[in-house]
Amino acid sequence: MFNKQLYQFFSQTETPFYYYDMGLLNESLSKLKQAAEKYNYLVHYAIKANANDRILETIKQYGFGIDCVSGNEVKKAIETGIKPEKIVFAGVGKSDAEIAYAIDKSIFSFNCESMEEIEVINEWGIKKGEIVPVSLRLNPDIDAITHKYLTTGLPENKFGIPLQFLDKVIHQTNNLSHIKLIGLHFHIGSQIRELTPYIELCKKVNSIQDVIFDKHGIELEHINLGGGLGINYENPDAELVPDYARFFDTVHEYLKLRKNQKVHFELGRAVVGQVGSLISKVLYIKKGVNKRFMILDAGMTDLIRPALYGAQHKIQNISRPEAQIMNYKYDVVGPVCESSDSFDDNVMLPMTIRGDLVAIRSTGAYGEIMVSQYTLRDKPKAIYSDEITNEKGEHLFSKITVS
Ligand code: LLP
Repeated sequence: MFNKQLYQFFSQTETPFYYYDMGLLNESLSKLKQAAEKYNYLVHYAIKANANDRILETIKQYGFGIDCVSGNEVKKAIETGIKPEKIVFAGVGKSDAEIAYAIDKSIFSFNCESMEEIEVINEWGIKKGEIVPVSLRLNPDIDAITHKYLTTGLPENKFGIPLQFLDKVIHQTNNLSHIKLIGLHFHIGSQIRELTPYIELCKKVNSIQDVIFDKHGIELEHINLGGGLGINYENPDAELVPDYARFFDTVHEYLKLRKNQKVHFELGRAVVGQVGSLISKVLYIKKGVNKRFMILDAGMTDLIRPALYGAQHKIQNISRPEAQIMNYKYDVVGPVCESSDSFDDNVMLPMTIRGDLVAIRSTGAYGEIMVSQYTLRDKPKAIYSDEITNEKGEHLFSKITVS
């Protein structure tokens, strides 16, 4: 992934920075498009994973929609040139200003998480003289088999409408003058590495559809299964592009659709996760009592996932690509004054010295977007592979165009 020329460029660049492999992004997007088109599935990229202009521009070129969870995300999607009819908007706490704005923009669907919210949206529909398209985000009570903080489809989670309330919610919603019920929405969690939770979800959706039809005689046009497909953090090079085809094949096998129903997805991490690496410089190798600390110039302000979720990212010393044996053990930490400012403990690496560059891999999703300026640290810059030139101004990597 990091050849000599690229390394040379990195070593002359101020660290830390996010490096995005645009060739890999294009590969990921074209495989996603191909796999989704097989079943006419519609994909809305979850912009919360990474909202960089270059990344969004590229995603737009493939025709995907956008999944948003804030008014500013809706705004960003629209500014990027995504058509409002491809924008979905979820979130348990949409503010009045966000609702009013999204109604004005005529987005495709408000994915609603409570009856209380639907009532407020109806009031806004009345004020604006608009019939607002709504999908019900249901909480299907499914264990996504992932990190506690990344699971969203269990009764103890704040997300979605509990299935016990579904009947009442449909009944009440149908009585509202300015709401049009268009679909069902689910999102059971993130970094889901097994397909079994999705199989369970499909089966649940099938039975929910039966109940809705039996009780209310309705068939909703849109079924949105959300995102969550995980990536390989342990060994990114073994799986640079997720197996989208297997994911969609599985859904196709288990999900029973009614006539004319469309299936939507909201993938974020899977699309961009492997595309980014956080590149950082070693400031010090500090001797501890029983430890060796590798102190980087990147910290939790640049990448919060390890501190927040105990997430592990592969860490590579890219100054020593030839090194075969990883015989030095380091606690890799940042410079911020928090004990949780640590990337990983006991990482086996080749002997490393001050000034070496390390790559923290698989940081394209939920990396740069979660940057903070705690302790007034600078924000890391973004560098895109197809913008890198040598001293003669020649591009190191061919400019990528989408066919
Ligand atoms: N749809 C909804 C309604 C969501 O809330 C999310 C993510 C997605 C789709 C996209 O999920 P993905 O395909 O990326 O797994 N900051 C955490 C991840 C939080 C995900 C929040 N919602 C992390 O760094 O792991």
